[in-house]
Amino acid sequence: MTTTIGAPSDTFDLIRRHLSPRLALTGSFAGRGATEVSGDGCRVTLSDGRTALDFGSYAVTLLGHRHPDVLAAVRAQLDTMPTSTRSLANPTAARAAAQLAEYFQQALPKVYFGLNGADAVEVAGKLARLATGRGRVVAVEGGFHGKSLGALALTHSPLFRRGLLGTSVDVVHVSPDDPGAVLREVRGGEVAAVVFEPVQGENGAAVLSVDVLRQWCADAARYGTFTIADEIQCGLRRCGERSVALAAGLPVDAVLVGKPLGGGVVPLSALVCSEELYAPLSADPFLHSATFGGHPLSCAALPAALTAIEGAAEHGARLAAVLDRALAELAVRHGELVAGIRGRGLLRGIDFTSPGVAGSVVVELAGAGLLVSPCLGRPGTVRLLPPLISTEADIAEAADILDTAIGVAGRRAE
Ligand SMILES: Cc1ncc(COP(=O)(O)O)c(C=O)c1O
Repeated sequence: MTTTIGAPSDTFDLIRRHLSPRLALTGSFAGRGATEVSGDGCRVTLSDGRTALDFGSYAVTLLGHRHPDVLAAVRAQLDTMPTSTRSLANPTAARAAAQLAEYFQQALPKVYFGLNGADAVEVAGKLARLATGRGRVVAVEGGFHGKSLGALALTHSPLFRRGLLGTSVDVVHVSPDDPGAVLREVRGGEVAAVVFEPVQGENGAAVLSVDVLRQWCADAARYGTFTIADEIQCGLRRCGERSVALAAGLPVDAVLVGKPLGGGVVPLSALVCSEELYAPLSADPFLHSATFGGHPLSCAALPAALTAIEGAAEHGARLAAVLDRALAELAVRHGELVAGIRGRGLLRGIDFTSPGVAGSVVVELAGAGLLVSPCLGRPGTVRLLPPLISTEADIAEAADILDTAIGVAGRRAE
């Protein structure tokens, strides 16, 4: 059987028939009837010849699209051994694990590789329960940790749990503003782990208080509970530091990374953790394994990705300052529609006065050539995720497009 994928209408038809009608609708809406065709740096080319500035891609394209060093590393692996036997030792995965531990200055020496962020969340939760013999996990209101069943239990918004009666993990969600919340939960000795995003991405770039997190880490440690920083979205320099938690001096037992870890080219995620948390896997590596975990093509991307991220880090800090100023100006100019600016570094949210206004802005942006990532669980906020490799001119262009889009949305709301 052959299926030709030609005109965009064919693509939408195939998506409608074989994937999801709603996906076809949102994709058609975002591209104004065009599909994505190619990506290069911060730009995506659409099937109608237009290009769009990509400040979205759900935080994957920190290095933009097709970063040349990452492509070269993945191509070299493709030409030698793209797949692992999984019975012979694989040097590419071993080297990637060592480099990731080194990237975090050996603060956390052990590594488990997955493909999606949820894979890293799953293994972290499983190890915490096995290493402590306890069943309960504390997570944070507003947190997003993925949609596979174990990760979903930690994700806060009920939107993602619709139709699912209960989840397999015993989780309590605490307020991010309550420094005493963890102590109250852990002192009974039943909590395996506390899991938090230092900057909550899906929750519209909400920055958690470091003082509260410090208190939580101290209280958890006192009662033998592990602390796990989910930095799948905010880590790897997205918010400035390699790890937001480690840079703040938080004594976490694990950092989870993903999204840009494969350089925006291949899927890769990782749990990076202490010997203590990893102990069950050290004793039995088959306790948690997956056919494609530590896949050579993904692991080949890691060294090139981390080197490129570090090479762009200083530029990223300057860019974040430029973005700060541009967003502050937008907030002043459109004070009647913009309720606030959130986030840190290159993970930012524009809070609008209502989800309706945010929706109108997204509609305008779709046609005007700026791709952003909406927040499903916080629809009044539009999330901006500029790549580290974007330029000041790209930020200025995005600010101009936003200015016009917010203006149009405002006139429509009158
Ligand atoms: C903080 C955080 N954790 C976990 C996940 C889940 O990652 P994935 O969708 O790759 O499974 C996400 C995805 O957006 C995330 O932002």
